[in-house]
Amino acid sequence: MAEQPQREQWGSRLGFLMAAIGSAIGLGNIWRFPAVTYEHGGGAFLVPYLLALLTAGIPLLILEYTIGRKYRSSPPGALRQLARPAEAIGWWQVAICFVVATYYAAILAWAIRYTGFSFTQAWGDDPEGFLNNEFLNLNETPGEVSTFVPGVAWPLIAVWVLTLVILGLGIRRGIERANIVFIPLLVAFFLVLVVRALTLDGASLGLDALFSPDWGKLTDGGVWVAAYGQIFFSLSVGFGIMITYASYLHRKSDLTGSAMVAAFANSSFEILAGVAVFATLGFMAMDAGVGVSQVSSSGVGLAFVAFPAIISEMPMGAFFGVLFFVSLVIAGLTSLISIVQVIVAAVQDRTGLRRVPAVLSVGGAVSVVSVLLFANDSGLYFLDVSDRFINQYGIALAGLVLLITVSWGLRLLPALQRNADATSSIGLGVWWRICLGVITPVVLTWMMVDSLIGELDENYEGYSTSFLLWGGWSVAVGALLVGVLLTLLSRRGSRPRSSERGSETERTH
Ligand code: ALA
Repeated sequence: MAEQPQREQWGSRLGFLMAAIGSAIGLGNIWRFPAVTYEHGGGAFLVPYLLALLTAGIPLLILEYTIGRKYRSSPPGALRQLARPAEAIGWWQVAICFVVATYYAAILAWAIRYTGFSFTQAWGDDPEGFLNNEFLNLNETPGEVSTFVPGVAWPLIAVWVLTLVILGLGIRRGIERANIVFIPLLVAFFLVLVVRALTLDGASLGLDALFSPDWGKLTDGGVWVAAYGQIFFSLSVGFGIMITYASYLHRKSDLTGSAMVAAFANSSFEILAGVAVFATLGFMAMDAGVGVSQVSSSGVGLAFVAFPAIISEMPMGAFFGVLFFVSLVIAGLTSLISIVQVIVAAVQDRTGLRRVPAVLSVGGAVSVVSVLLFANDSGLYFLDVSDRFINQYGIALAGLVLLITVSWGLRLLPALQRNADATSSIGLGVWWRICLGVITPVVLTWMMVDSLIGELDENYEGYSTSFLLWGGWSVAVGALLVGVLLTLLSRRGSRPRSSERGSETERTH
């Protein structure tokens, strides 16, 4: 194997924090959180949400930071040093990142186009028809591909070029600098949007709808499942991202303090997004003389149907439309960079390739798959099912397997706790081990079973079973199989890198 160049490092704690926050704040905050909160009891949802943040989100974030910093490697290499079979969890996370990156970039491509459409309100008075027919050229049969959609392909290629250029510049000159510029910009844009939203007529209607608690919902298991799912996706835990980012930390850096800052920044942004989105929906509801429930929708519908309709109605709509879609692009771009970095780092760590060739080969592969799968007339369907299945049976399941392996299988929590405590500003108490060793595995296992039962009860979104099998299940199961396959391939003739052997020795002492 080639001699490994010295591992890159973040330039400053601020740089690492901005990158971690940039990874966390993404599409999940802007369009997922408001809709999930509203759907699951409004204000009452904040109770399970905060509990999930404190018992699962922050403890897992600290665990991933600790593993990454201690073993100084991307997930496969880091987990291999915990125990050789655990390497498979790492490659599984790399495969999950591959899948997520392909469709995440497609949503950014749409947002780029909608930034342009906002100037002229190109959707006219039918944003839904415009999205499905004119823009996406949506096929009537989910999964059937008959045309390529150039209007999605070119912005998608642009997203990939930008992402790969930033990645190619490296940790410090690329990722760190991009986040230091983009995150404050995003916060500034978003504050303008929040102030504007709060001063719209009808804003209070929307806020009432978002925050009026429906306490009865707290007895519904699905609400708790949704809260944990939201925290995982939003904080970027379970994908291996934080292990990767932390592997570029200085050995003496503070872990627990950084995790708290990143987690609270992410949740604050999320709540801000909820306020902005619902105040705006309140305006729309008042304008149309209907209830907020009739104008709210989730995911794609919220950003690309409800918002365009609002932009057409509100004073200075074009300006705020541009601001909204540019914010979506920035938030998504900083998350996409972190997702692709997991794959780049895994390839670099395994092969010894330098950054630019690794970025070009990995980026080339992901971007070709991304364009082929999502710039066609079934792209929206592929996106919908792959997002659903890879989240439910990829990210959350990989997170659960990692937790069980570390806490029950290898019983490493006490050692990792000591490692984190040695350099951190906030000491971890026994609560950290209880959250990771008991509460989170139990809740996550329950989530999995509950969601599997639901899956068997009813086809997701009414899609045909065959489409769900090859478009959804095959993606989730495929990621796991690819993970195992890559582990086997990577083992053939491989010896751990010298830096890894060093850490292995460290662990046994
Ligand atoms: N954490 C990222 C998001 O919220 C993936 O979109």
